[in-house]
Amino acid sequence: MNFLLTDEQKMIRKMVRDFANNEVAPTAAERDEEEKFDRKLFDQMAELGLTGIPWPEEYGGIGADYLSYVIAVEELSRVCASTGVTLSAHLSLASWPIYTFGNENQKKKYLKALAEGKMMGAYGLTEPGSGSDAAAMKTTAVKDGDDYVLNGSKIFITNGGMADVYVVFAVTSPETKHKGVSAFIIEKDFSGFSVGKKEKKLGIRSSPTTEIIMENCRVPAENLLGEEGEGFKIAMKTLDGGRNGIAAQAVGIAQGALDAATDYAKERKQFGKPIGSMQGISFKLADMATKIEASRLLTYQAAWRESEGVSYGKESAMSKLFAGDTAMEVTTEAVQVFGGYGYTKEYPVERFMRDAKITQIYEGTNEIQRLVIGKMLLAD
Ligand code: CAA
Repeated sequence: MNFLLTDEQKMIRKMVRDFANNEVAPTAAERDEEEKFDRKLFDQMAELGLTGIPWPEEYGGIGADYLSYVIAVEELSRVCASTGVTLSAHLSLASWPIYTFGNENQKKKYLKALAEGKMMGAYGLTEPGSGSDAAAMKTTAVKDGDDYVLNGSKIFITNGGMADVYVVFAVTSPETKHKGVSAFIIEKDFSGFSVGKKEKKLGIRSSPTTEIIMENCRVPAENLLGEEGEGFKIAMKTLDGGRNGIAAQAVGIAQGALDAATDYAKERKQFGKPIGSMQGISFKLADMATKIEASRLLTYQAAWRESEGVSYGKESAMSKLFAGDTAMEVTTEAVQVFGGYGYTKEYPVERFMRDAKITQIYEGTNEIQRLVIGKMLLAD
């Protein structure tokens, strides 16, 4: 067993950290305040090769591993969780299912453009009436000549309105429940596709979250992803990896909050000495650092397992569960270390605390992660 990063992983971490500090961090507070998405940052990520980290070069990627990818999401999220999830949704949720289940034509047409950042991707599973119970979706897809005609709407779509390509799930055979779900690749310009309401959110405010609407949306049959009826499995397998991307986001948010709190504890003096010299604060920092390290190890392990081709669904659910809860706890404690100043927008910790909350909710609530882990334990 070897816990050291390879030279390539270290190089990617340094590259992303420099990019995050120099290009992403300076505008993070302003983009959060104004709920403003900056496509230029996505384009810059593409120039660095981040939009296609784990895909082979023939599909526009840089041929690195999943550990490098989660390190990238972590480093971005250390300064801006919105930028972290932009990459995570693009790569784990939209590109991964095309890489894994797409045919050669779909990979050449979509995966390559996604990997090179010429297209941005998104994923549409959740509906107003089906969140945790994903199989209860109502969006339908009916074959009509060379097309499928989709009707329904999806909500809480990360990268919604900004993405060029959406991987969307719809019911092709209602009588067979989850076995009647199919997956489709939808381009934003397909007739009958539109973007609906944009959510106003507590956190990750510079990452757009929207509704998408399919109203007699015509999707060429060649854009069916995988086989008809294979959609639910594709959705679940996609989330297996996606959840580890969210774990990485949570680790990054928590680390950003710890770094800020540690610096502050060294500078801020009360009772004639730095507050960090008092155990009330230093013990807090120690607990925060320990839980972050445990979260990071779970996250890196799940990514490593995916690269090695061994099962990682349970480990990924565990990493999201633990890292999400840790991010919420650590960011709340970071605000506490800052006291009254932490509650203001003068420091970044209140943003980290607002951003952390979503990591316990999306890509399956942490209650659903427990369900997934429990089912897998009992099936072993
Ligand atoms: N891999 C492969 N197959 C899987 C699987 C997996 N990880 N999980 C389930 N399946 C298969 C099962 O084997 C079963 O197949 P068979 O019928 O052939 O045996 C089938 O799927 C149904 O499985 P379950 O009976 O376990 O399904 P369920 O209806 O009880 O639901 C669930 C299981 C885990 C609760 C699932 O519905 C779920 O994950 N819910 C949460 C959904 C979610 O995470 N949504 C987030 C959307 S993305 C997002 O957040 C927005 C964003 O943009 C970031």
